[in-house]
Amino acid sequence: MIFRQLFDSVSSTYTYLLASRRGGEALIIDPVLERVDRYLKLIEELDLKLVKAVDTHLHADHITGLGALRDHTKCITVMGEQSGVDVVSMRVSDGDRLEIEGLSLGVIYTPGHTDDSYSFTMADRVFTGDTLLIRGTGRTDFQNGDARQQYESIFNRLMKLPDETLVFPAHDYKGDTVSTIAEERAHNPRLRVTSVEEYVALMAGLKLPDPKMMDVAVPANMRQGLHQEEVAKRGWALSAEAARAMLGRPDVTLVDLREKAERERHGCIPGALHAPYPDLAENIGPGGVLHELAVATGKRLVFFCAFGERSAMAVQAAQDSGIAGACHIEGGMRAWMGV
Ligand SMILES: [Fe+2]
Repeated sequence: MIFRQLFDSVSSTYTYLLASRRGGEALIIDPVLERVDRYLKLIEELDLKLVKAVDTHLHADHITGLGALRDHTKCITVMGEQSGVDVVSMRVSDGDRLEIEGLSLGVIYTPGHTDDSYSFTMADRVFTGDTLLIRGTGRTDFQNGDARQQYESIFNRLMKLPDETLVFPAHDYKGDTVSTIAEERAHNPRLRVTSVEEYVALMAGLKLPDPKMMDVAVPANMRQGLHQEEVAKRGWALSAEAARAMLGRPDVTLVDLREKAERERHGCIPGALHAPYPDLAENIGPGGVLHELAVATGKRLVFFCAFGERSAMAVQAAQDSGIAGACHIEGGMRAWMGV
């Protein structure tokens, strides 16, 4: 496995790059905007293909690199279903799996630091975001933070992981890089409480100043979505209503770009072809299933996904590879369900 822990010294953020092999698909957790060039260079040097960029929660101390990475690599952006961001490509919830080629991460909802905080597990490690830090825990006094929920997340979820599980947090301010669940249980001063009430009182007594970047970072991080208007301006977007009216037409093929788990959870559009976004380049290139379908039958391809972000990137790529008439459902399944 390829595993890199990258550090942003301005915000003391750790960013993690994961892949199962050289030349394979990669996933990045908690990228920082100012470091995006560095990540891209490393991804190129390791011959990786970035397919997913994930934030553990809406950050208040730095601007996320999610949008910039998506624009550079066409990767899928991922956050929890509770995140108040305008658009991400995919939202996950407790119990989901976050998958790329050769790697599958468990998804645990661990609210408390914020109401959209998630942790991601692998067999031997856990990425804890700001829920559990090394000898500390993330503050709970803004962004719908809740010390009571954080206590539950730490004691009833994270501390239930095997003792030897490696703990990789989103930040460290002292230079520590990794810990374990057993080590934190024994030595984390915030965990030396005997009740949830004691933890709530401890967190309430911290009286921390607001993060320096908060007024800039939070609004910026809320607006990282792809500008679907650009695609619409070219006439490549359909409203969910217009798409519904096309259902069953013989000259139209709907193409579902979502993953299997998203389809199972949120439902499917009858008759739509399933062609997951990570295989897009193959499918729309000459000889690819979608390319040949469109060319041979003259059918109009109508892409859709969860929120319209993957499909907006797909329609651009399809047009670029000569599939004229390709368009997408603006707002994706969310918009479709609302019609
Ligand atoms: Fe945070």
